Amino acid sequence: MPLRLRDVTVPNRLWMSPMAQYAAGADGKPTDWHLVHYGARAVGGVGLVMVESNAVGPAHRTTSADLGIWNEDQAAAHQRLTSFIAERGAVPAVQLLAAGRKASHRVPWDGEGQNGPVSVADGGWRSFAPSAVPFGDLGVPREADDADLDEVVEAFARAARMSHLAGYQAVDIHASHGYLLHQFLSPLSNHRTDEYGGTPTNRMRFPLRVARAVRDAFPAEKPVFVRITATDWIEGGISIDEAATFAKELAAVGIDLLDVTSGVLVRDREARPPARDGVNVEFASTLRQASGLPVAPVGQIGDLSLARRVLADGRADAVLIGRALLRDPYLALRDRPDDTAAWPYQYHRAL
Ligand SMILES: Cc1cc2nc3c(=O)[nH]c(=O)nc-3n(C[C@H](O)[C@H](O)[C@H](O)COP(=O)(O)O)c2cc1C
Repeated sequence: MPLRLRDVTVPNRLWMSPMAQYAAGADGKPTDWHLVHYGARAVGGVGLVMVESNAVGPAHRTTSADLGIWNEDQAAAHQRLTSFIAERGAVPAVQLLAAGRKASHRVPWDGEGQNGPVSVADGGWRSFAPSAVPFGDLGVPREADDADLDEVVEAFARAARMSHLAGYQAVDIHASHGYLLHQFLSPLSNHRTDEYGGTPTNRMRFPLRVARAVRDAFPAEKPVFVRITATDWIEGGISIDEAATFAKELAAVGIDLLDVTSGVLVRDREARPPARDGVNVEFASTLRQASGLPVAPVGQIGDLSLARRVLADGRADAVLIGRALLRDPYLALRDRPDDTAAWPYQYHRAL
């Protein structure tokens, strides 16, 4: 069933979750890998292809192989992706990211120490965060000052404009998985004593500034999503009640959909969501109830029959699928072997 968000109609509710490929050139532009990878999932029948986290500026990258969307050259290079995805009938969307204290690490498969730090001496870059509290063995970030925060707000707004130029129909603000905006939200990473730290209202203030700036910069006819953390899964971290308050505030800012995840604020296995089917589905329902916004949970919904059941029961407005779509680009078509309208003409002789 289609889902209409502002003037954008998404043809179905099985969506591809953003997954970093660490395959960009040093200029942050998409490569042939991205065209083939995202193109295959668009051919595979998902309603919306969410292109992985794109840094909003060079200092906001996690690795030197991250995609970027901070200038017009990059926007032009993304047009190849957006036009192919749209030609296949899927909605091209993109996630916007500032890494904060998770900046400047190695790509996962590079050398010993997965995601190990890259120092400035080795070609890395300095990062800032709400507080000078490091993520695992990555460098200690400097505490962001007012000028840093203004720069981030402007960078997100510019990235939203570049996303529109690139042909994306929706943007997703990454406020989860331990990146900069999540670092502000959680008391475990935000120890500030100014108006951006302390109370929940203060910790939400900066992410809400970013949300407002992106909403203002992106065309009114196109939706803006936020990837929200339902819980940190750690004592003293964000709880679902605090996430519900944030969700309500996001609705007031004009955000159109919550993309619901949880965990991974700190480098600790305990901070990962437990292995459980549809682990964030109930959280998504709670956040929908609190905010009145449509929701798309992500996390362990890769079993197609489970995904269809969650949708049929009305427990979510869409579902985002990650790893299962890495294993099988045609996942969304697997239970429709005879649906000639869904499979591309080029493959009909195989049906
Ligand atoms: C290779 C890989 C890269 C990922 N990159 C991102 C990313 O760029 N942005 C993001 O929000 N989540 C990212 N994630 C998390 C997924 O979007 C998703 O939330 C997670 O894998 C749980 O969903 P799943 O159980 O369907 O895989 C990544 C996951 C994987 C496996």
